[in-house]
Order: sequence, then C-alpha cells, then structure tokens
Amino acid sequence: MAERRDLTSAGFEDAISVLSHAASYRRIYFRTHPRVAALAEEFARRMEVLLGSPQRSAFFLGLANGKLVHDGRALVSSTIVSKRLIEQLEALGSGGVLFKRGTRADEVLELLEPVRGGGEPARILHDARARLRTCQALHLELSAPYASPEWLGQTYFSGREGGCAEEGLGEEPLVPVYQQLFGIVEEAHLRGASGSDVGVDGARSASEKLQRAVRGDFRDLLQLVRYSDYDSFTVGHSVRVATLAVLIGHAQGFDERTLTELGAAGLLHDVGKARIPEEILFKPAALDDEERQIMKRHPQLGAELLLDSTSAGALAISAAWGHHLRHDGGGYPSHRPWAVRSQLTSLIQVCDIFEALTAARPYKHALSPQRAFEILLADRGAFDPRALAALVRTLGFYPPGSHVELDSGEQALVIAAGSAVDRPHLELQRDATGRELAEGERPRIDLGAPDQRERRVARLIDPALATCAEEEREVALEALAALPCGPCGSNESE
Ligand SMILES: [Fe+2]
Ligand SMILES: [Fe+2]
Repeated sequence: MAERRDLTSAGFEDAISVLSHAASYRRIYFRTHPRVAALAEEFARRMEVLLGSPQRSAFFLGLANGKLVHDGRALVSSTIVSKRLIEQLEALGSGGVLFKRGTRADEVLELLEPVRGGGEPARILHDARARLRTCQALHLELSAPYASPEWLGQTYFSGREGGCAEEGLGEEPLVPVYQQLFGIVEEAHLRGASGSDVGVDGARSASEKLQRAVRGDFRDLLQLVRYSDYDSFTVGHSVRVATLAVLIGHAQGFDERTLTELGAAGLLHDVGKARIPEEILFKPAALDDEERQIMKRHPQLGAELLLDSTSAGALAISAAWGHHLRHDGGGYPSHRPWAVRSQLTSLIQVCDIFEALTAARPYKHALSPQRAFEILLADRGAFDPRALAALVRTLGFYPPGSHVELDSGEQALVIAAGSAVDRPHLELQRDATGRELAEGERPRIDLGAPDQRERRVARLIDPALATCAEEEREVALEALAALPCGPCGSNESE
C-alpha cells in the first residue's frame, strides 16, 4: 500500500522507472543517442545517491514470474512501467541484477545492449556475464533465474501474506492490463518521435481490456491509477487519464464502442509531445516564454500525427487537438469561433487536469481529490459542467481504493462512491484504538445510510498528499452544490 512505501523504496522504484525508460529508448535508438545516454547517466546518479550510505552498498532488482521483485515482494508499479526492461532481462536469461555501489552509466548501457542470437538460457546468461566482464562492468552482477540455487535475491512470495508492498495486488490480473496500457502509450510516443505511424489499433485493444477491468471491481484499478511515477514521457499520465475517462464513461452508461474510442483517445491525447524537442520536453526547470509557446503546439502536432495514422478515429484526433481548449472558447490552439467541441473531448479535458492536480510530480505534491475539485470548480468557464459533474460523482472526495480515517479514529478502505461525495461506502480495517481487524471481521458500511450519520471521514490517508485543510472541504462542498446533475453526453461522433 502506498503509505508503506518509505522514501528509500520510493527512490529505488523511481530509479527503476528511469532504467526502464532507458531500456525502451535503447530498443529503438542507438547506444550513443543523447536521450539513451542521459537516462543511463541519470540511473547511475540515482544509484550513487541511494547506495551512498554505509548500511547499503548494493541493490538487487529481481525478476520472478514476470514481475520485478525486491526483498521478496513484488514491485507492482515498477513491473507495470518496465515491460522493456523485463523483456531485456528475459532475453539475457537472467533473474535480475545486483547493482553495486559505483555502478557507472557505461555499465548500464552494457546491460541494455540488445541480445542477439538464441540458444539455451543458461548459455545466454553465461555469455552475457562474460561480455559484462570483458567490458569491465564489474558493478553489475546478473542473477541466475528465480528459483534456481544461484538466485541472488530473497525468495519471492506473492499474494496477501508476508506484507508485500502492494498487498492484495500480488497476482492481480490488472497488472498485465496496465503493463499493456503503458507499453502502448510508450510505443506510440516513441513511434511519433521517430516519424512512423503511431498505430491507434493497439490503443483500441488496450482500451477494450481496460473496459473489462472497469466492469469488474475497480478499486484496485484506481489504486494503481494513483501511483506516482516520474516518467518523462507523460506515459503514466496518459494511462491515468484514459482510466479515469473510461471509469466515468462506464458510470455514465456509454456503450462499448464509445468507451473503446474514449479510452484510446485518453491514451493518445498527449501524443503530440513526441514531436516537441527533447531539450524542452525534458527540461528539468521551468520553461521560458518561448519554450512554453513551443510546448503549446503539442495538441496541433498530436492531431497531425493521428491524421497521418491509417487507423485513428475522429474522437482520438479531436481529443488530441482540443484537450487544452476551454469550455468558454479560450485555451489553445486557436480555433474558429464556430468550432464546436465534443462533450467527450470535454470529458478528456476534465480528466487531464484532474490527473495533473492529483498526481505527484518531481516539482509538486499531489493534491487531494477534493482540493482538485475545488480548483476545477473555481475556474469558471473552463470546463463543461456536465463533464465536471460526472467526474465528481464517479470519484467522490475519497476515490475507491483510497484509505481514510474517520472522526472516531477508525480507519477504512473506500470500496465505492456513495450517495454523497463525502459519504462513500467503506470497509473498516482498524478500530478506534488502531487495532487491525482480521479479514473476516471487517464490517462494510455505507456512510450515507441513516444509521451512519454519526460517522464522518476526517481525512484521506496518503503520504503523497499535502495536508488537506478542513476549509478546503467546506469550500469544495459549497462549490459542488452549484453543479448540474445531467449526464455527460455520450455516443456522439466528432
Ligand atoms: Fe496536453
Ligand atoms: Fe495531458
């Protein structure tokens, strides 16, 4: 669970995300490409910081049963974003890597070198180890596959037992769904950057899987959606926008075809960023005016990329082009006064901003959903009120999957949105003394029920959030009263 991730483990997971991006870039670019080199340097720098203390001189990143593991637990969010890295380790016949203090960028590049030829996995691993030694890559040690006697990590265990970080997600079928979503977005951006067809069919098929996940119990889905990652490609952002849009569309009763197109549009809405110069896209500081103007071209560039694609639908093109347009006609790119924006594009716009506000970024904290709603509502004229109302109603102040503390001191998991935005359905997990309730003794309660009026959510438990002041809640509740109740439009073709 998110609150169990201490800063060190979060630091390692962020470093894995950097390594994973390096693996993705290396797949399509040559070894000395500036971005490949920069990511390898960045990973080495992070290892230097993380392995700088006397207590820790090495970090083992394992691969067991298709998942990245560390200290005997699955790193679910890292597994999701690291498809290419996992493929590389599999190609090496390896069950993971031990990174020792002193790991250098050139060693990382050696690790990511494409594996040629085939043969017995043991032979491939033997040859890869020999190659690393020849290249003086002495701070990396390739592990034998998981479960073999030479495996370098702790035994990996999955499921709820043993306190894995993402407890309950150990064997979650959503992981491959998310892995595919991340893979599709990353691939589309990389293809867009290299001038080839971004391929919308892959996004559609991933979107269909997302729909199936949404139709099931989507608590875990939202939990995964809320993971912070610091990817530079806005990949995580696009996946979360698509997930939110499909969740809301599903709650609004959109048909399957519309949901498929909506999800694909969410996945690809920022694909134009692939055509923004890397020095601007990856600039570690604030953009100046000129750079900001260039960045603002991404909706236009995205629409052009999709128009050039053989498989893009009207909604994806429209969402890429119009997701920074305001409901009152402002925003960018500039357009004719008669141009009408679809309500589905408005929905993507709302999800886009909500995701940006509630996600942690290297330069900002995550905001609570209620603070994000407050900001959205305060920006009068920016959003289609029907799309905004649908977002608020589907998620509530305490989105399913989040953990909350009640006035009584009890702690609970939110299992569904309730009849009011601040009165969700809960499963109690700790009593008022802090004692954890056993699995079978966790009552499910509807805070909207008349006999639960005494209970009230006091706060969202999430270390990524800045503290949520009580006034924020009052302001947000007041503003919400002004929202219309009609459903957000569906089934339109743009
Ligand atoms: Fe954008
Ligand atoms: Fe976006």
